[in-house]
Amino acid sequence: MSMMDGGMMVSIFRITGQHAAYLVQQLNDFASGRRQEMMMNSIAGSLTPPEMKAVALYLSASP
Ligand code: HEM
Repeated sequence: MSMMDGGMMVSIFRITGQHAAYLVQQLNDFASGRRQEMMMNSIAGSLTPPEMKAVALYLSASP
């Protein structure tokens, strides 16, 4: 999946329903730079740990 295959809506639907622990891990990896993607490194880097958990729980509970 990338920005080239249909944009943000595709990305959003592919992360809803994923396990919250997986999403938090990805956000931490973006924040630390372990995983590289310019937009996400910037976005994840601006989230606090409680915010990462909240957004991960929201996405994992979304169909
Ligand atoms: C609070 C807002 C956002 C959250 C919580 C979020 C969350 C995530 C997560 C969890 C992933 C990893 C998905 C996976 O590996 O399964 C991801 C990937 C990605 N996100 Fe975001 N995202 C947000 C906003 C954005 C925005 C605004 C953009 C672009 C303008 C963006 C672009 C991307 C891209 C390009 C990827 C990589 C997709 C890939 O590697 O296949 N995200 N995002």
